[in-house]
Amino acid sequence: MKARVLSGVQPSGQLHIGNYLGALKNWAEIQSRYESIFCIVDLHAITTYQNPAELSAKIKETAALFIAAGIDPEQSWIMVQSTVPGHAELAWLLTCVTPLGWLYRMTQFKVKAAQQETVGDGILQYPVLMAADILIYQASIVPVGEDQSQHLELTRDIAQRFNSLYGETFVMPATHLPSVGARIMGLDDPTQKMSKSAKGAGHAIALLDDPKVIQKKIMRATTDSEPAVDPAKMGAGIANLLAIAQACDPSITKETVAGMRYGDFKKLVAAAVIARLEPLQRRYREITADPGYLEAVLKRGREHVLPIAEDTVQKTKHAMGLHI
Ligand code: TYM
Repeated sequence: MKARVLSGVQPSGQLHIGNYLGALKNWAEIQSRYESIFCIVDLHAITTYQNPAELSAKIKETAALFIAAGIDPEQSWIMVQSTVPGHAELAWLLTCVTPLGWLYRMTQFKVKAAQQETVGDGILQYPVLMAADILIYQASIVPVGEDQSQHLELTRDIAQRFNSLYGETFVMPATHLPSVGARIMGLDDPTQKMSKSAKGAGHAIALLDDPKVIQKKIMRATTDSEPAVDPAKMGAGIANLLAIAQACDPSITKETVAGMRYGDFKKLVAAAVIARLEPLQRRYREITADPGYLEAVLKRGREHVLPIAEDTVQKTKHAMGLHI
């Protein structure tokens, strides 16, 4: 039997090149070696307010982007988290074994809590629901960007605690980071991670951005004031652009760009990104032209994963004594 892979993306904001290089591209590359489940985590998205009509549209857009980015629905399973009730049910069972201190220590919670006057309980519980997403499928591999590493550590801590309290129930999942592109930074500020929620027109390259817009954003990306690329002392902005270019086109390396003037280097980066995204965008337009296709893919995914999820929920409840 193939080992199982699970990963997910929130259908909030616009998916960007960081999501692609940190997650989707890697998923597409490893999918044939595993039984892969890719999840649109809509229950995570609602931990911050989402306009209902927009959210519903984003769920489908995200599913279409998974396929456009190379996830093969004949080979992998694509499903929507809220259509499988076991995720929320297991999250509650796991909540009951999770010390509050572990959740308060999460970087994402600390950052979000600092930004808001009142913080929803969903923001605190967020990583427990994420642990449920992974553990419910007994996934052994979780391909994500670097920003999710802490959540994966917590998932393992929760699984270990449950297993030691109630007996071996969950498979211990390993984090799988891509070799290049695990942490893409904002174009406007290379000290900040590129993020869906960050404001500012020059921050992120959206996967569906027009080539002209991509070109403009890259040409305006923040760099230091050196004249040309020096591989021995690259500033954060140049290093970030190089990581993006390298992940889009592996023939671009430190050596091939050494000595290039920043303007020419940026043109090269833009060309690599545009060439990488062009087929993705074309495929996206084809997929969204046929809504019936997407519905069928999501239905098939749901039907495949439901019994796996139900089996783990039953096993977990049984281990805890929740049976008569
Ligand atoms: P989300 O929706 O923020 O991001 C989706 C994926 O994209 C990666 N990523 C990045 N990679 C490189 N550079 C960046 N700037 C960048 N920004 C985002 C993320 O690491 C992620 O892999 N909590 C998760 C969603 C989730 C999940 C799960 C993931 C819920 N349940 C179970 C894996 C397994 C999140 O908010 O991802």
